[in-house]
Amino acid sequence: MAVVTVMAFGAVTAPTSVQAQQVNPTAQSITEDKLFQALQGDQMVAGRVSIPDDQASGLIKPGNKSWAGTHTGTVRFLTVAAVVSAVVVLALFYMIRGRIMVDGKMSGIRILRFTAIERFAHWLMAGSFIVLALTGLNLVLGRTLLLPLLGEGTFSTLTVWGKLAHNYVGPAFMVGLLLSFLVWVAHNLPNKVDAEWIAQGGGLLKKGVHPPAKKFNAGQKVIFWSVTLGGAALSFTGVMLLFPALAGGQADWQLFQLIHGIVAAVLSFVIIAHIYIGSVGMEGAFDAMGSGEVDLNWAKEHHSLWVEEVQAKSGDKSMTSKGAHPAE
Ligand code: HEM
Repeated sequence: MAVVTVMAFGAVTAPTSVQAQQVNPTAQSITEDKLFQALQGDQMVAGRVSIPDDQASGLIKPGNKSWAGTHTGTVRFLTVAAVVSAVVVLALFYMIRGRIMVDGKMSGIRILRFTAIERFAHWLMAGSFIVLALTGLNLVLGRTLLLPLLGEGTFSTLTVWGKLAHNYVGPAFMVGLLLSFLVWVAHNLPNKVDAEWIAQGGGLLKKGVHPPAKKFNAGQKVIFWSVTLGGAALSFTGVMLLFPALAGGQADWQLFQLIHGIVAAVLSFVIIAHIYIGSVGMEGAFDAMGSGEVDLNWAKEHHSLWVEEVQAKSGDKSMTSKGAHPAE
């Protein structure tokens, strides 16, 4: 302000030699001059704070602007690529292969595939992930896609609520992720049958091909570990973004932001494919997470070794009773 005052004074009235002597380049104007000089470089302009978060003392860091540009560009590109390619790949798969049907007829005999606790863990994780994915998508692409459609007022309200939801639903996802990990990790360790399943393309590409599988096949194990590791990375970086004081330096915080965006995009691709195959893509699959029970013929075609294990445990070879057998 002092600089502006001095300049304006000089511009409006030509200073006499006495006035010129009176124009005192004060300490404040010198400070401001330094500040403007600092803004030309990549130096951080920082003040002082009495809270534990040192980062909060940073007023302006010009380098952040160019960093934010690169970060936003990378994450936006990956997000669009992930969503568009998932939709295109699945549409092509549907056109070529159609819905995967049970080859034999449905038997009418139900077998318990997932207990209530397994389904609770799945839906807690899945429901919260979907909220996080949609609200996150809005943060990355909303300004381009939704703002022109909704207008500033509605878009702003939506984004403020969306960001709050993103922050507060995160912990629910972490609980669901941990529970799912605990109930399923033992079934997701690699074994010999996985190689055969992969060699036969999981039976997904050709009708009538049903490679043997235990409770989870190799494809599902890929989903499980992607969700577990990707979800853990998202959780960790998400907590760092929420509490910057924990994140170490600013460079670490920026790295966490980048990782958060990239992992979210990649995991979204995987999850879109998973949702397709667990609902419209495969006849009888949704029941496993809906009622928890699947048709015996579905189970024999997709998880033959698991059916044998359940039969051996229950001692019921025929599985003719309508009653549900516990999943091992
Ligand atoms: C509307 C959305 C969803 C539907 C319809 C759905 C459906 C299913 C079904 C039917 C299964 C059991 C498959 C079987 O019997 O073998 C399953 C398993 C699983 N789901 Fe989901 N799911 C959804 C969303 C999600 C989300 C968002 C996640 C993770 C963030 C997720 C993670 C898993 C995992 C890790 C498994 C076990 C491994 C596997 O079967 O691939 N699901 N889901």
